[in-house]
Amino acid sequence: MGRLSKPVSASEVVSYRLMMPSDVNPAGNIHGGIVLKMIDEVGGIVAYRHARMNVVTASIDRVDFFHPVKVGDLLILKSAVNYVGRTSMEVGVRVESENLTTGAVKHVGSSYMTFVAMDKSGRPAEIPDIQPVTDKEISRYDEGAARRRARLGLLRRRS
Ligand SMILES: CC(C)(COP(=O)(O)OP(=O)(O)OC[C@H]1O[C@@H](n2cnc3c(N)ncnc32)[C@H](O)[C@@H]1OP(=O)(O)O)[C@@H](O)C(=O)NCCC(=O)NCCS
Repeated sequence: MGRLSKPVSASEVVSYRLMMPSDVNPAGNIHGGIVLKMIDEVGGIVAYRHARMNVVTASIDRVDFFHPVKVGDLLILKSAVNYVGRTSMEVGVRVESENLTTGAVKHVGSSYMTFVAMDKSGRPAEIPDIQPVTDKEISRYDEGAARRRARLGLLRRRS
């Protein structure tokens, strides 16, 4: 029997959180670490939904923050599976902030993360393939494949 293939839409997630005073650094901006934790959480949900089994974070690519986030901003995290290997998958997370008074939306940053699905004995397990349908999903798939090659090449050179 062939490997099961699932659409991107079956696991994608949009998550919202209002930024609170407990999230800020002494300068009054939101801590980058708070946003990174939210990225890891939402990416993990998407990966778990795709695999329908436990996943671990294997790697997080470089993350750049383009704009500060302020208390009272609505943080919006849009996340989907871009590419699937055998046991691992690349999940993309786009972070936006919305000023609730003006409605202005800014692209705060984006992240590409690799999650690995684990079976009950803690070993990497095969997951369903991904089926890109829209033009955007197809270009994300192709770009995800190229990033995976670069990532694994770097990993081999380091070890
Ligand atoms: C991620 C982990 C399971 C990989 O284990 P491993 O023994 O290298 O397993 P494998 O060699 O079989 O690789 C499994 C998959 O992970 C991918 N992978 C492994 N290390 C990777 C890395 N650093 N970045 C991206 N992908 C990676 C492999 O390419 C392979 O993908 P594929 O099946 O789609 O081809 C293991 O390193 C681990 O458990 N790390 C800790 C994860 C964790 O606890 N994260 C939270 C930290 S607080």
